Amino acid sequence: MIDELEALPLRLDADRARVNAELEELFEHRDVGAERLEAAMRYGVLGNGKRLRPVLVYAAGRALGACDEDLDPAAVAVELIHAYSLVHDDLPAMDDDDLRRGQPTVHCAFDEATAILAGDALQTLAFEYLADAGHDRLGAMVRTLAQAAGRDGMAAGQALDLESVGNTLDVDSLARVHCYKTGALIRAAVRLGALTAVSETDPRVIAIDEYGAAVGLAFQIQDDILDVTGDPATLGKASGADAARDKPTYPSLLGLEGAKAKAHALLDDALSALTPLGEAGAPLAALAKYMIERDY
Ligand code: IPE
Ligand code: IPE
Ligand code: MG
Ligand code: MG
Ligand code: MG
Repeated sequence: MIDELEALPLRLDADRARVNAELEELFEHRDVGAERLEAAMRYGVLGNGKRLRPVLVYAAGRALGACDEDLDPAAVAVELIHAYSLVHDDLPAMDDDDLRRGQPTVHCAFDEATAILAGDALQTLAFEYLADAGHDRLGAMVRTLAQAAGRDGMAAGQALDLESVGNTLDVDSLARVHCYKTGALIRAAVRLGALTAVSETDPRVIAIDEYGAAVGLAFQIQDDILDVTGDPATLGKASGADAARDKPTYPSLLGLEGAKAKAHALLDDALSALTPLGEAGAPLAALAKYMIERDY
């Protein structure tokens, strides 16, 4: 485990480089003529993202025996959905943010209509790309990604998030918002990695799914914490935005220490869930720790 923790930064870099190369390829040899849309999509996807969801796809898939080449389609697809979600999340009608990944948000760099279309096209490109890969369990994979992104996942969470502005939620309701808006896609990332390797009925998929649920919520709690404690130059996005918008968050509800304690409790849950994987789960354990200790 210690070795994995020490090796983690290198693996993060390698996996980021791997998925970045795949993402770059999506924008080569395009001749439809919608250059502004292409440029906005490119701008929204390429750049300084942590690529955490692809990294999770690779880690989960490798833990169950998949090879990197087979994991690329799910890694790319999940990052495309994530990039789309950020483009729309930043729109004036949603969080109205100007800075993302250290640069002006897509609607600021281009315009609102282009940002909406870029988000739409990134989302459909995710499914096109996944479908082209033709995995054995493609149906289950498409369903996993669609459910995580849509009305049973992220879109529902974003709706609940917007409805929550100005309200005080109890902790169960806040957990629900966070699990849907952010947890669902992170959970899907590890599940997609797992399904690349084995079928849905494999008990290790259940273990991976439990892990994904715990780290998915923990990740958004840390995002809430960094909105209070983070440095905008490091984060690449504004801090203090949740309080400015009167959004209920873990720190607003439980205080900073309470929020940190909850993230650590979820880390313990994530590590326990990995028990059936034995040593093969060590990289996922290291990633879980990284997700709640990160400062951007
Ligand atoms: C930000 O996600 C939005 C949330 C779901 C909290 P990330 O923190 O993974 O953003 P990037 O991809 O690194 O920019
Ligand atoms: C974003 O949550 C969830 C998404 C589905 C994109 P936030 O609104 O807290 O993410 P940031 O802080 O803008 O990155
Ligand atoms: Mg938001
Ligand atoms: Mg936001
Ligand atoms: Mg946030």
